[in-house]
Amino acid sequence: MSLDNFLNKLSGLVQELEKDLNEAKSISGLEEVRVKFLSRKGRLAEVMKGLKSLSEQDKPVAGKKANEIKDKLLRLWQEKKAYFETKQKEEQLKTFDPTVPGRIPDFGTLHPITLVIEEISDIFTSLGFDVVQGPEVETDFYNFEALNIPPEHPARDMQDTLYITENILLRTHTSPLQIRTMLSRKPPVAAIAPGKVYRRDSDLTHSPMFHQIEGFLVDKNVTMAELRGTLTLFLHQVFGKETKVRFRPSFFPFTEPSAEVDISCVLCKGKGQINGVPCRVCKETGWVEILGCGMIDPAVFHMVGYDPEEFSGFAFGLGVERVAMLKYGIGDLRIFFDNDLRFLEQFKG
Ligand code: DAH
Repeated sequence: MSLDNFLNKLSGLVQELEKDLNEAKSISGLEEVRVKFLSRKGRLAEVMKGLKSLSEQDKPVAGKKANEIKDKLLRLWQEKKAYFETKQKEEQLKTFDPTVPGRIPDFGTLHPITLVIEEISDIFTSLGFDVVQGPEVETDFYNFEALNIPPEHPARDMQDTLYITENILLRTHTSPLQIRTMLSRKPPVAAIAPGKVYRRDSDLTHSPMFHQIEGFLVDKNVTMAELRGTLTLFLHQVFGKETKVRFRPSFFPFTEPSAEVDISCVLCKGKGQINGVPCRVCKETGWVEILGCGMIDPAVFHMVGYDPEEFSGFAFGLGVERVAMLKYGIGDLRIFFDNDLRFLEQFKG
């Protein structure tokens, strides 16, 4: 074969390829074109066989040209492919409506106990209280001794307390956070401590694990008037302004004087009856107990190194499940721990 003949065949390939590319209708059609021209048994390979029959002198010229043509064929083919790809994307965008609302993922809900803890925390932080936390596995010292609960006190009884060793236990209340916080800070301090507590108790109205919120404030000249004012404001925010609040004298080892606080019954609005039927929530009394409180006992201040001559303070503790039951009108404590979605989904925000 002559050199001219060989070169003509090569450049003829370009025209042939261009013709086929023009006729190709889609990306899949392009693949056939690639196989036809550029595969091992394709048109280019076929023409290249002619290289052998050229003279030694012509071979370098022919080889160089062959490489150029090969690159050109490949480039033309890739350009066409890119063209099809762009066109395909444009088609897809035509049917894509960016104004169609997206699929909204199914969010979970916050547990009603969490909701109540968050609501109460918000109220107290807006009053300047910090939120503090501590361990659920406590020592006898923080849970009892430092809170002025002597060894023979009934609260320490094996019946109530879940002991791990003689000295280590699951905290029975959140009051240890008073001690932990006061030991690590100097007055003035104001904090609340929400968390889980544990007792050997399980029936319709008691669960071995439940939640409490402890609160306390220590400063100079703190009086019972501040305690009453703070708790009344708090209870009005949670249960509504029309709710009546009363303080009854009581006893706690870590407060003196101590009180229990009742609110007017949320169900019968303090009337004791609904349409002549005795109210099941307050048992006809018109009041429900909601928390315990008092002025921090000087014995507790001694334990944490605060001078009771210089400082005074108040403390309170409440059960979160109880608040949630009254607030949401829930009659059965166990429903909080069943985690039935039909119950939980009612608290979707
Ligand atoms: N720790 C008490 C309990 O678990 C609740 C309590 C009562 C906390 C009076 C207080 C308080 O801080 O002053 O029953």
